Amino acid sequence: MCHTAPGGVTNAGGLAMQTPFGTLYSSNITPDPATGIGSWSYPAFERAMRDGISRDGKNLYPAFPYTAFRNINDADMQALYAYLMSQTPVSQPAKANDMQFPFNMRPLMAGWNAMFLRKGEIKPQAERSDQWNRGAYLVNGLGHCAACHSPRNVMGAEKGGTSFLAGGTVDGWDAPALNGLSKSPTPWTEDQLFNYLSSGYSDAHGVATGPMGPVVSELAKLPKADVRAMAVYLASLDSSAQAQTAPVAEAVAQPSVASVSLSNGQRVFEGSCQGCHADGLGPTLFGVSPSLATNTNVHSAQPDNLLKVILQGIAMPATPDLGYMPAFKDSLSNTQISELAAYLRNRFAPAEPAWQGLPQRVAHVRANPGSH
Ligand code: HEC
Ligand code: HEC
Repeated sequence: MCHTAPGGVTNAGGLAMQTPFGTLYSSNITPDPATGIGSWSYPAFERAMRDGISRDGKNLYPAFPYTAFRNINDADMQALYAYLMSQTPVSQPAKANDMQFPFNMRPLMAGWNAMFLRKGEIKPQAERSDQWNRGAYLVNGLGHCAACHSPRNVMGAEKGGTSFLAGGTVDGWDAPALNGLSKSPTPWTEDQLFNYLSSGYSDAHGVATGPMGPVVSELAKLPKADVRAMAVYLASLDSSAQAQTAPVAEAVAQPSVASVSLSNGQRVFEGSCQGCHADGLGPTLFGVSPSLATNTNVHSAQPDNLLKVILQGIAMPATPDLGYMPAFKDSLSNTQISELAAYLRNRFAPAEPAWQGLPQRVAHVRANPGSH
């Protein structure tokens, strides 16, 4: 589901287009009059985008992401229309089972069908700064960050209220909470969010991988002022982030490792990981050298993200300077990975309870690699 090379035209479903607003997937959203949207007026386009009513006026698909596109302001909606209409028309009839535009748009590659339903454009909050309001607009409209970072109700719709940005799952990955429920060992500050979102790396938290990688690749193309605005808005959600950053809970190596399994895990860490993750104690060989003590995934309630990264490595850095991490699926057994994960949890997240059922979890994640 992730990347289609810029300018790439076809993918399995039909046409994919890179736009400044993200990747749009479609049977045909080029301005070809017969098979595309070439004969759509701006009002017809806008009605489709905001209300989910197609040009023939009949089709209403209540489960479609136009609920998020409603939050796109008029200027950006017009820019999107102008952009699409300026592309080269391609004559390509829709395949029978393709959803018709706009019911097939996937902004910023999330590809989510149910989005949060909110009426109208986001109302600016007068008591907040312009920058904060811009950030709220970007996070909730074009960025649709909640598509992954909010839990869903039984209908598959994102939960609002206190559940907003309280963490979700996508493709077997945890999308961590971005509000006050964040499991991050140190609160995310505005600067750290800015660095993470614009480069994929914050020295205080680590890297963006899995489904967050392509999001950062897209955000890296936005004007820096927009990413800054998102950081301002997101930092305000986690009220503790306003306070001075607490010192990192010192991740002291346990003086005596309790059990055989922990000492086995420590041996795997020293042999396979420490060279690149020395936590400031050793040289950085190449790329970044993320500290595991500050990594949200080591502090999360589920080990899944950590296990995925160990098994699959990081072959596609969110931005090129981050470097690559090798996959360990062929060199470490399930037992070794379980012992390693137990050791990392014990050493780097000493305040969190041990993960239960690790061997089964490793086997499950290994058997379900997902699309990343
Ligand atoms: C396609 C799903 C998806 C979308 C859309 C998405 N995220 Fe993420 N996000 C994730 C996943 C998965 C992770 C965990 C990545 C990892 O472990 O490296 C993550 C991690 C993060 C983190 C780090 C959290 C932590 O404590 O480590 C931040 C901050 C973040 N995302 C912000 C955003 C913002 C802002 C947006 C909207 C512009 C967004 N995300 C959109 C899936 C997504
Ligand atoms: C050859 C160097 C290298 C080795 C060996 C290595 N890593 Fe990494 N690791 C990296 C780099 C570089 C990144 C960041 C890559 C990126 O984001 O593009 C990373 C990222 C990570 C992350 C952060 C993922 C996230 O979503 O926040 C974790 C966790 C991690 N490594 C754990 C491990 C463990 C455990 C081992 C041992 C089994 C290990 N690494 C071995 C280089 C390495």
